[in-house]
Amino acid sequence: MNHVDETIATYDSIAKDYKVISTPENRAWLEGSMRIFAHYMSGRKVLVPGCGEGKDSRHLRSLGFTITSFDLSEGMLRIAKEKDPEGVYLKHDLRQLGEFSQYDGVWACACLYHLTKDEFRSCLKDIWNSLNPGGIFFCNLKIGEGEQYIEQPRKGYPGGEEAQEKLSGNRFYAFYELEELELLFQGFELLKKRKDILKEGKGAMEFWLRKPRV
Ligand SMILES: C[S@@+](CC[C@H](N)C(=O)[O-])C[C@H]1O[C@@H](n2cnc3c(N)ncnc32)[C@H](O)[C@@H]1O
Repeated sequence: MNHVDETIATYDSIAKDYKVISTPENRAWLEGSMRIFAHYMSGRKVLVPGCGEGKDSRHLRSLGFTITSFDLSEGMLRIAKEKDPEGVYLKHDLRQLGEFSQYDGVWACACLYHLTKDEFRSCLKDIWNSLNPGGIFFCNLKIGEGEQYIEQPRKGYPGGEEAQEKLSGNRFYAFYELEELELLFQGFELLKKRKDILKEGKGAMEFWLRKPRV
């Protein structure tokens, strides 16, 4: 099995328990991140790659955006569609994001780190092409070095011991140094970056970027 098949098989098997990471503290943090995203946005059309069970898609819609979401895990998509029958949730691979175009915003929360660094580089080009001039791109990535599989959520993962117990299974992750990301984001205008202090290990960084209007 390749890294995507293995990671998606894990998401399929943990989908029903994935909600344990949605602690009030974690949701409040992310809803704050979405308010910042909304503040920078000048259009309404948002793509949500790696949407999981659709919590962010639903919240972004409540802020007035028109949302298209996708994920590769059928288990996660099933929950998203049950909770939001009106929403648009597609089965699609991050590695084929180039098939989307003309979005005002891309909200890529907690998903792009499941790509290898080469795939991430190519996905960034696709995200660039999917955005209208002036479009906003949000992502958060894990800080650290290299690429590795992690079998069990590490200490400090949102949801604590319950997450460690219920969310095991191999998932592939890439970790980035800040300087590495700043090079990868070249071309985008960096509007804001912030350390997500609720994440385990060396933490995660959030980025709000804009494709220049030219
Ligand atoms: C950590 S979860 C985050 C889900 C959601 N964005 C959230 O913040 O709650 C990562 C999601 O990325 C999805 N994913 C991982 N690799 C993917 C790929 N190659 N294509 C599409 N989705 C992928 C997983 O199925 C999973 O739902």
